[in-house]
Amino acid sequence: MNPPLILLTGATGFIASHTWLALQAAGYRVLGIDNFSNSSPEVLTRLKTLGGMTPDFIRADVCDAAAIDTVFAREPIAAVVHFAAFKAVGESAAKPLAYYANNLSGLFTVCQAMERHHCQALVFSSSATVYGKPEQLPIREDAALSATNPYGATKLMSETVLRDLQAADPSWAIATLRYFNPVGAHESGLIGEDPRGTPNNVMPFISQVAIGKRARLSIFGNDYDTADGTGVRDYIHVSDLAEGHVAALRYLLAGKGSIVANLGTGQGSSVLELVRAFEQASGRSVPFEIAPRRPGDIDACYADPARAHELLGWRATRDLQTMCADSWRWQNLNPNGLAG
Ligand code: UFG
Repeated sequence: MNPPLILLTGATGFIASHTWLALQAAGYRVLGIDNFSNSSPEVLTRLKTLGGMTPDFIRADVCDAAAIDTVFAREPIAAVVHFAAFKAVGESAAKPLAYYANNLSGLFTVCQAMERHHCQALVFSSSATVYGKPEQLPIREDAALSATNPYGATKLMSETVLRDLQAADPSWAIATLRYFNPVGAHESGLIGEDPRGTPNNVMPFISQVAIGKRARLSIFGNDYDTADGTGVRDYIHVSDLAEGHVAALRYLLAGKGSIVANLGTGQGSSVLELVRAFEQASGRSVPFEIAPRRPGDIDACYADPARAHELLGWRATRDLQTMCADSWRWQNLNPNGLAG
């Protein structure tokens, strides 16, 4: 019998491409779809090299109901991992309509196609952003939820939709995974985060400073309520995150029900600690300046990852040094990303 077929949406993106490899390594068959709105077809070439087989891929937009129906009509799909979404916080404030339309209609289209084709196992990419400004650290899954920007609101609304869907029809099995701060890259250096234009997130920005593409990092505030005054986050290696998806799928396909789980390390690191760790891993210096706080940023955010360990048997194993070393290898091997 063929191994179960898993559909990945947004399949050539940062987290999805690593999950693709982790699923293959775990023995699943993978079908990927993407519209390349924020990724490159070159990822497929890299996945072929790394996975030793031609990736099964269809170019499609998750908001295109007819196209998604065709994908499901091809052969039975055991489960879907829905990654496809816009994800830039700042851009979401400037283009709220585009964010609500794409992120919500993508989810509706995928879930409706799943219903039509009797596929009811779904892993959903959520985010620690749904905790808003956390009242307690580390953050447990039962913490209060709120949104501080349209991007966060789309994740919160999506979670609500999925909760209602599951309540209405318990044959749905849904894993809602709240990612903390994904960084790092595949250890080969062949796939990684490939932001277009100026990176919004700190790790790709640091990498570009280290390689000389940017003069210095602006550290957004050093007067936060943290040990060194810079913001503290729970950075998690993308390969650990990818393995978390495999664990979640196993859980769903074993019929254990639905789950909402944090995917983080439980360890907070400050921006200054990250800069130092990156300098050590790369052997390059990372000049920085202290800049004003970025609107909407919070002092600290890190996970209580206990639930994922208890229920999924998963925990992150790669440390900050490994995250920096792998981010640097990826940057160094692909100085201009995948387009260059
Ligand atoms: N930072 C800088 N300089 C930069 C960029 C970031 O000092 O150029 C700082 C931020 O102030 C923050 C830390 O680095 O203290 C991390 O910032 P990121 O932008 O990398 O990540 P965020 O924690 O702000 O947001 C990320 C994702 C969101 C997600 C959130 C979940 O980008 O999509 O984690 O907690 F919602």
